[in-house]
Amino acid sequence: MSSLAKQAGAVFDVGAIRQQFPILSRQIDGKPLVYLDNAATTQKPQCVIDALVDYYATCNANVHRGAHQLADEATRRYEGARDTVAEFINANSRNEVIWTSGTTESINIVAKGLAQLLSSDDEVLVTEMEHHANLVTWQQACKQVGAKLVVAPIKETGELDLEQFSALLNSRTKLVAFPHISNALGTVNPIAELTAQAKAVDAWVLIDGAQGIAHGSVDVQALACDFYVFSGHKLFGPTGIGVLWGRQDLLAEWPVWQTGGEMISEVTYQDAVWNVLPYRMEAGTPDISGAIALAAAIRWFAGLDIQAVQVHEAALLEAATRQAEAFDGLTIVGTAADKVGVLSFVMDAGHPADIGFLLDRQGIAIRTGHHCAEPLMDRLGVPGTARASFSLYNTLEEVDALFAALSKVKTMLA
Ligand code: ALA
Repeated sequence: MSSLAKQAGAVFDVGAIRQQFPILSRQIDGKPLVYLDNAATTQKPQCVIDALVDYYATCNANVHRGAHQLADEATRRYEGARDTVAEFINANSRNEVIWTSGTTESINIVAKGLAQLLSSDDEVLVTEMEHHANLVTWQQACKQVGAKLVVAPIKETGELDLEQFSALLNSRTKLVAFPHISNALGTVNPIAELTAQAKAVDAWVLIDGAQGIAHGSVDVQALACDFYVFSGHKLFGPTGIGVLWGRQDLLAEWPVWQTGGEMISEVTYQDAVWNVLPYRMEAGTPDISGAIALAAAIRWFAGLDIQAVQVHEAALLEAATRQAEAFDGLTIVGTAADKVGVLSFVMDAGHPADIGFLLDRQGIAIRTGHHCAEPLMDRLGVPGTARASFSLYNTLEEVDALFAALSKVKTMLA
């Protein structure tokens, strides 16, 4: 158990957990909210909301540069938050934790640097299950220099075809990027195995942890990848803050992506010298309150018994899958053996958008559409899906409520 977990006492009780999320007692049109859109964003426990408010109420100031007590307090909380992230993902050094606005920006920073390091002989390997953030970004970086974007295929189940993935790696592969967990299908990728294979051809590895980070523990040193990126808001933290974790030796040499204050150590009218990590990758005033509140979210999450959380989430998905399989006229999209948190489906009765609308009328929030994975939908031959995505505060009763509501939707659309 990490010291973060020890600190908070490691307990899991879904009823007690729900009490900590004020929004979960909301009603939608007089019906209890059933929030099943957690892959899009998770709700926030009171301690995270408090951390955000407390910063503004007690020590709002800019960080690093102030000569007064508020600035000092803000800096301590903000840099302490970096330590919390570093411990949470077992980074080798706090200097490897770069604050960003979220997963998308993290990937863009790496890709912007990569575009300067790529040549037209190089290849970048991604998978067919990418979120647009982990596809379009590499696609455009490759286009800039005439490098080749190679896409590793998936099977009909939504699992990566591991044989094909291996076959596509070669000495020209400069970087390999893949999701820890697919946002659209819930497929869990064997990220350690994929990383080891990519490393065998000396490629850099970026793992899109947007979905993975809130469903288990991540140890970037054990993974031995080069970059692991995630967003705060999918980890019970605020929107607008995220993390780019990268190996220190690599980030210290990686091309800077933004210039301005903070990221310099010396400036003349003619030239500038870049600051040391992590500041060289963080130009301008950062999202101070976001970082502080994200650290509160991490302390809260790391204080849970993660194994108990995983058992609970697996029970939710299993119950949902069982009911979906028995539901006449419903087809599950994405049936990988290893899945977490996501039930994507289509129904003969109607378009996913209509399903989403009619569920909302019954207080049930899901997401519909292509889930920022349009090429994946094309590959699977669906225009989009209805997606129920679960988090640790969901209950088996909410799964039942989803299917009771879907029966009504089916009747309404008939
Ligand atoms: N990427 C987020 C989702 O899957 C927005 O819903």
